[in-house]
Parts: sequence; structure tokens; C-alpha cells
Amino acid sequence: MRIAVVGGTGFVGSRLVARLGATGCEVSAHGRSTGLDLLTGEGLRQAVDGAGVVVDTIDAPSFDAAAAPFFRTTTQNLLAAAEAAGVGHVVLLSIVGIDRVPDADYYRAKVLQEDLVKAGPVPYSIVRATQFMEFIAGIMDWTTEGKAVHLPTTPLQPIAADEVVDTLAEVATGTSLNGTLDIAGPEAVPLDELGRATLRARPDGRRVVVDPSAGLFAAVPGDALTAPSGARLARTRYADWLDRPGA
Ligand SMILES: NC(=O)c1ccc[n+]([C@@H]2O[C@H](COP(=O)([O-])OP(=O)(O)OC[C@H]3O[C@@H](n4cnc5c(N)ncnc54)[C@H](OP(=O)(O)O)[C@@H]3O)[C@@H](O)[C@H]2O)c1
Repeated sequence: MRIAVVGGTGFVGSRLVARLGATGCEVSAHGRSTGLDLLTGEGLRQAVDGAGVVVDTIDAPSFDAAAAPFFRTTTQNLLAAAEAAGVGHVVLLSIVGIDRVPDADYYRAKVLQEDLVKAGPVPYSIVRATQFMEFIAGIMDWTTEGKAVHLPTTPLQPIAADEVVDTLAEVATGTSLNGTLDIAGPEAVPLDELGRATLRARPDGRRVVVDPSAGLFAAVPGDALTAPSGARLARTRYADWLDRPGA
């Protein structure tokens, strides 16, 4: 049974494709660079025909209001093609807590994507992950001014991408949950502290300045993005991840 990963050319998707391949699964990777366009439907039949499972790890080109029509069209196209091809299980990668941040365009768009999958014609599983450890440095770059990294104290509970992939691979090779599984790193840490830990491990002359209005995470109320009760907690702490060669 083949597992088709749409978004399988992206950051998480390519890691999932490698993981499934290494464990002997028949797996295929699809994205714009392989000739699949989920907005137009080009290459979609070829991607899903003969697949028993489809994993969706695609992402929108921007975090603004354009994300909603992107996820609406791509998800509707994917579900229709999956149903027509007799796919038995659709797995969607989403984000912990998105329904608790209604003011964020991108998170509203991800909720819409989840709702389409839940209401859709194919048995499904939704895996909601917290922010990837690999992206903390990028979050810091968004709000760097000169030598100051402006960060709010918003608590995040980052997870190593490899541990997200572990769960996605397990879910994709299992029975559909027809529900949602939350996964998170082992500890919630304020974003400004994650920034200081990053600069301790990789000093580059910048320093963290607490700024309650800085960046996308400033709008997050309380601990909305941390693990809800019942979430599966991964093992790797951010400080240990930073110590890994090549992290
Ligand atoms: N960043 C986080 O911390 C975090 C946490 C939890 C969940 N997530 C979720 O994880 C998912 C994957 O994120 P990522 O960082 O791995 O994304 P990414 O690296 O940007 O990869 C996006 C993928 O989507 C494909 N794609 C984009 N537009 C497409 C289209 N019109 N038709 C077909 N394929 C298209 C890309 O294909 P090409 O590259 O071939 O063009 C690529 O394979 C996202 O949905 C995100 O919400 C992210």
C-alpha cells in the first residue's frame, strides 16, 4: 500500500518520506517541484491514484489573509481526488492551539483546513504539533533590529521535527483516528527565554529585548499554543536539541 505525501518535497514532508522509505514503506513525494499543483489540480490524479493513504504536509505561501483561500481550494481538491481514487485515510499535519488564537489569519486558515478534512468524505487523522525547534532561529530573525532580537514572553512548547515525523509515520501506517492527536515538546518556555538559550548556544553578538508587541506570537493569548491535556509529549528538550551537531 503506497503512502502519498503531498508536501513531500517540503521541510517536514521530505523528512517523513525519508522515514517511511527507510522502514520499507512504499511512499511517494509530491509538491509543485514534482508537477503537483493542488490549487489547479494539475498532477493530482497521478499523485493519489493507487495510494491507500495520503498525508498532507503542504503549506501556504504566506501567513496573511491569502492563507484561507489557499487552504480551502487545496484541501477541497485533495479530498475530492482522494475520494475518487478510493484512498482510505487522509492524514493532516496541523498546529496545536490554533482554535485558541482566532485573531491570527494563518491559524484561522489552518482551522478551516482541519474543518474541511473533518467534514470530508475520507476517514482522517489530524496530527497537531507545536512549533518546530528548527524554526526558533527563523522566528528570532523576523524581529531582529540591529543587534536586538525583539521577542514577547509568549510560552511555546517547541518540538524537534524528527519527533513530529515519528508520530506522523506511526499515524500514517495505522488506522484512521477520525480525531486529533496533539504532540508537543517536553516543556513550555517563554519565547524570550528560547531566544536567550539560542544565543547562548550560538552567540552572534545579538541580545534579546523583551517586547510584548513583537512578531506573530505577540498576539497569542496566554498559553494558547502549549500542549493541551492529553497531548503526547516528545522527549527532546530545546537545550539538548541546541547541543546536537548541525542543529
Ligand atoms: N512551522 C512550524 O513550527 C509548524 C508546526 C506545526 C505544524 N506545521 C505545519 O506543517 C506543515 C508543513 O510545514 P513545512 O514547514 O514543512 O512547509 P514547507 O517546507 O514550506 O513545505 C511546503 C510544501 O507544500 C508544497 N506546496 C506548496 N504549495 C503547493 C501547491 N499549490 N500544490 C502542491 N504543493 C504545494 C511545497 O511544494 P514545493 O516545495 O515542491 O513547491 C512543499 O512540499 C504546514 O501546514 C504547517 O502549518 C508547522
